[in-house]
Amino acid sequence: MLQYFVASIILLFIILVDTEFITWKTFRKKRKELPGIRTILDIIKWKVPLYWGLPNYIILGRGEEYFGPVFQYKIGNSCTVAVNDIQVARKVMSSPDCRDRLPEGHVLYERSFNKPLGILFGNGKNWAVSRDFAVKTLSNLGFGQGTAVEHCIATEMEDILQKIEAIVQQECTFQPHGFFHVPTLNVLWNLIAGSRFSHNDQKLTELLKYFYKWNRSFNLGATALHAFPWLRHIPKLTEHDAWVNGHLKFSAFFKNIMEERITKNNYLDDPNDFIDYYLREMKWQNDSNNNEYFTEEQFLTVCTDLFMAGADTTRTENLPSLVYKTRMPYTEATTAEILRHACVIPVTGRCPVRDMEINECSITKGSIIGINIHGIHFSQHIWSDPKVFRPERFLSAEGRIINQEKTLPFGYGKRKCLGETTSRNTFFLFFTAMLQRYSFQLSPQHPKPSLEDVCGLSRAPKPYYVTVQKRSN
Ligand code: HEM
Repeated sequence: MLQYFVASIILLFIILVDTEFITWKTFRKKRKELPGIRTILDIIKWKVPLYWGLPNYIILGRGEEYFGPVFQYKIGNSCTVAVNDIQVARKVMSSPDCRDRLPEGHVLYERSFNKPLGILFGNGKNWAVSRDFAVKTLSNLGFGQGTAVEHCIATEMEDILQKIEAIVQQECTFQPHGFFHVPTLNVLWNLIAGSRFSHNDQKLTELLKYFYKWNRSFNLGATALHAFPWLRHIPKLTEHDAWVNGHLKFSAFFKNIMEERITKNNYLDDPNDFIDYYLREMKWQNDSNNNEYFTEEQFLTVCTDLFMAGADTTRTENLPSLVYKTRMPYTEATTAEILRHACVIPVTGRCPVRDMEINECSITKGSIIGINIHGIHFSQHIWSDPKVFRPERFLSAEGRIINQEKTLPFGYGKRKCLGETTSRNTFFLFFTAMLQRYSFQLSPQHPKPSLEDVCGLSRAPKPYYVTVQKRSN
């Protein structure tokens, strides 16, 4: 294992030296360049090898200390632009030239049959058609603002409250880690597959095990693997196998559901959920002999994307109703502050489809633009006290919600999160329902929670304990 690691570092070093000249020559032609890594000296100065394995947001944040909020690094044939600035981030994210997620041929597409399929990492027309179909179908099913989804949230909320009540009747201490996973996933699963998972569903437990590994493997993914795709063959170095295996498991899971639905054959006359509607569209497109976008591979990737996007993101959060949301500005400000701190997706990506400019510097088509959402949420330039938990930063003197445009918890632009409205509503309802009845404190019998996170594509706290008590009023 150690020899593989040492060998890969040496090889990495040789290739960096090798490409430096090419890089320098290419850069020299450009009119104006962003600051960043261009020479071996920069690599040493920036202590790049020490960053191996650190979460992407920390690496992009450390770079800001040397080069400023927007900089670039070119490794091998891959150019990454790091953006830690809110104005530049919003400009890039809303640019029609930046609708792609990853460059063509990126090794991460091994998860989706070596094509840029699906919604999360899809590109071009494939992405546009898939996203459009998902948004329309899910909103027809009640995802977003509908009462159908509010009803699902209420069912899951009752379930959570019963579990908390059982804890209050017994030991009063529990680990929130994983506690909200199944209920939040169920809100989405109900629309995708028309059913709920039970808390101890074996199949789900197994899928989530693969999902966690898949999520973690993203850390080393985008840049290093794009620059040196061969790195993925070194066992354990990049954990790329977890990335591919996660997708294989999910594909097999959804293929099974697909085959069952096709055998039952209700989806054409009586479509009930997202899967039914997708299969019906697939059938219609196949019948028209012009099926470019609604293929089986696309189906498996889109379903996997929705599951994965919904699986890990929302878990951290007479019954309250959404009607009260606008009348409870302090609660809304508190949820905004939680989303700023939690920063569930710390980095998101864009890939320009043609050459473009950032801060008047030219950026080549096919570069990876890493938007450091975490860097923005904790920026000293935006907030005077970024590390402090202070909901008031989102409230005006008159009690109106302000400053939300200075955070990006759900991204921005045409690729912004598809689950934003439902996630915000679920979060608001779970949060208020729990706090109405119970008060929560860190458990005095257990060590204080670590401030380090478990980070991959998404970010979560390490397990910790809280005590819960019934409110007297
Ligand atoms: C607290 C919960 C959630 C947070 C913080 C969150 C955050 C994000 C962020 C930051 C992005 C990247 C957006 C961009 O690049 O501009 C994203 C994309 C996405 N999210 Fe979420 N998300 C959450 C829940 C969900 C749920 C429940 C779903 C289920 C439908 C979902 C589906 C997606 C999809 C499909 C994309 C890719 C959109 C595209 O590339 O077109 N998310 N999310």
